[in-house]
Amino acid sequence: MEEVTVNSPAETHRLGRLLGQLTKPGDVICLYGELGAGKTHLTQGVAAGLAITARVTSPTFTLINEYQGRCFLYHMDAYRLSGPDDMADLGYEEYFYGDGVTVIEWADIIREILPGERLDLQLKNVGENKRTIKLVPVGSRYVIMAEELLKLVHAGD
Ligand SMILES: Nc1ncnc2c1ncn2[C@@H]1O[C@H](COP(=O)(O)OP(=O)(O)OP(=O)(O)O)[C@@H](O)[C@H]1O
Ligand SMILES: [Mg+2]
Repeated sequence: MEEVTVNSPAETHRLGRLLGQLTKPGDVICLYGELGAGKTHLTQGVAAGLAITARVTSPTFTLINEYQGRCFLYHMDAYRLSGPDDMADLGYEEYFYGDGVTVIEWADIIREILPGERLDLQLKNVGENKRTIKLVPVGSRYVIMAEELLKLVHAGD
């Protein structure tokens, strides 16, 4: 679908914030992209959009960090997992299909268990401070979300 180019960490944060403003409990956002692509920066923006004031850091050792703002934010990072089996004991369904917004870094590692409907964001490092973010909505709810997001991103605020 559509691709957005961002030219600084602040622009990535802004895109995340606008996305966070559009999300509702039960939404799932999956982030893909190499080390340093900006997945955590984007997630911090989502948190800001959900009016979360706590500092959001990568859930490296905990797998999931929970924050409460306008609703819960469940921040997952699958980087250290070898696959979906590592998620078995976690009760991940309660997160994916629960009462919060879920953001998953390195979602490709647990591809098999991702909800069928979700917003995939593919981040690519294309320069020192430049990243492309490809929006791939899966399911009608996310098609609308992606359209709204593009409008907000290009509107300037
Ligand atoms: N446009 C940009 N958007 C986001 N980060 C950028 C951008 N330009 C430069 N950066 C830098 O790239 C790095 C992105 O780090 P971040 O932790 O967000 O990446 P990540 O994709 O979460 O990596 P990891 O896979 O290690 O979790 C930071 O050092 C940030 O300053
Ligand atoms: Mg990260």
